[in-house]
Amino acid sequence: MTEPSPKGTLSFFKDLHPPKSRFLDDVLDGLSKPQKSIPPKHFYDARGSALFDDITDTEDYYVTRTELGILDAIAGEIAERAGPGAVVIEPGSGSSVKIDKLLNALDNPAGYVGLDISKTHLIAACEDLASRFPGLSVGAICADFTQPVPLDDYPVPDGKRLVFFPGSTIGNFEPDEAQALLETYRSWLRPGDALLIGADRVKSAQILENAYDDTGGITADFNLNLLSRINRELDGDIDVEAFAHKALWNEEKARVEMHLVARRSLTFSVDGRRFSMEAGESLHTENSHKFTIDRFHALAKAAGLSVSAQWSDDREYFTLYWLERAETV
Ligand code: TRP
Repeated sequence: MTEPSPKGTLSFFKDLHPPKSRFLDDVLDGLSKPQKSIPPKHFYDARGSALFDDITDTEDYYVTRTELGILDAIAGEIAERAGPGAVVIEPGSGSSVKIDKLLNALDNPAGYVGLDISKTHLIAACEDLASRFPGLSVGAICADFTQPVPLDDYPVPDGKRLVFFPGSTIGNFEPDEAQALLETYRSWLRPGDALLIGADRVKSAQILENAYDDTGGITADFNLNLLSRINRELDGDIDVEAFAHKALWNEEKARVEMHLVARRSLTFSVDGRRFSMEAGESLHTENSHKFTIDRFHALAKAAGLSVSAQWSDDREYFTLYWLERAETV
C-alpha cells in the first residue's frame, strides 16, 4: 500500500465551472458521421490515464524520454532566461516529473498556477505540488483552457510569467485550434514573459508509427480501452475483440493518426442506439501532428509569437521552443 501523499495548501482556487465533457453526446455524434470519430479527451478515465503513463515508459514512445533529456540539458539556460522569482503557469497540469524538473531548475520560483478541466485531477496535482515545494505559492484554476481564460482576473502571483506546455500536446489539435490555443497563451504574456513549449518533429514513418503502436501493445490497449469505456459507462455492447488498433503516418497532414479498425462487419448499440460498421471501416480516435522547425515557427508567428530560442536532442526528434510576444502584429 502506498501512503496517502501529504497535502499542501493552495494560495487560491478558482472554479470557472467548465461544462462537463459530454461523453455520451460526443460518442453518439461521432458514431453517426461518415468517418466515425471520437474526441481523444475521452481516453482518460482512470484506466486510460494509467495506460498512458505506461506508454511513456515504453522503448518505442521516445517522446517523453527525449523531452526530459532536453529539459535536463538546458536547465541552466532556462533558469538564466527566466531569472529569479518566476511564476510558472501550466495549462493541463500534467506530469509531475516535468514540472518538478522545471521548478528545480529555476532560480527561486515565486509561484505556480495550474489550469485543468478536471477539478479532481487539478486539485490533487496542485496540492501535491504545494507539498513538494513548500515555499512556492500555488494556485489553481479549473477551466477549459481551449477556451479563452482571462488570467489577469485571478490573483496570479507577481513575477515574470513562464507558461509551460510540454509533451507535444499542441500536436493533438487541428492547425486552426492549435493557433487559437497559442493566441490564448499569448494573451497571458506581458512583454518579457515567455511560453516554453515542446513539439515533436517530423521524422521517418517507421519511427513515428512504432511510437504509436509499441511492441508491447500498450498503446493498442489504450486505444481499445475507449471501447471498453463506452461499454461500461454508456450501456454499450461493442465487441472490443472485433477491433484492431492502427497507427498511421499521414504524410500530407504531417500527423500520426490513431484508428480502431473493424476486423469484420458488426453491429452494436450504445445507450439504446444501433450502429453498424463494415469490415475494414475505421473509427478515428486521435491525431498527433508533427512539426518541422519551419512549420512550428510559422504557427507561432500566426499566433503573434516569436521564437527567441529553441533546443533539440542530438537525434533532432523533439524540440523545445522559448516563445515571446511578437510586438509587431
Ligand atoms: N501529446 C502526446 C502525443 O501526441 C501524448 C499522447 C496523447 C499520446 N495521446 C496519445 C501518446 C496516445 C500515445 C498515444 O504524442
